[in-house]
Amino acid sequence: ATYTMVDRSTCIACGACNPTAPGLFEYTEDGLSYALLDGNEGITEVPEELVEDLEDAVEGCPTDSIKMSDMPFHCQRVEAS
Ligand code: F3S
Repeated sequence: ATYTMVDRSTCIACGACNPTAPGLFEYTEDGLSYALLDGNEGITEVPEELVEDLEDAVEGCPTDSIKMSDMPFHCQRVEAS
């Protein structure tokens, strides 16, 4: 299983992730990204068909703000705002 969330404390609103993975990332009004699946909780499994997009988004983020894990982010929580 794969999980994702955005570290919004390091996101610089560069805007690369939504075009790369439109099903996974969207921006709040300030331009900062969040994981669409579960409001950036990082506890909802990424659908198999979106994992490749996710990997591309992780590689494409200039600040490494897109986190990916094979475990839910309950216990590795990064501040979401
Ligand atoms: Fe932010 Fe990285 Fe996306 S800086 S807007 S999470 S590509």
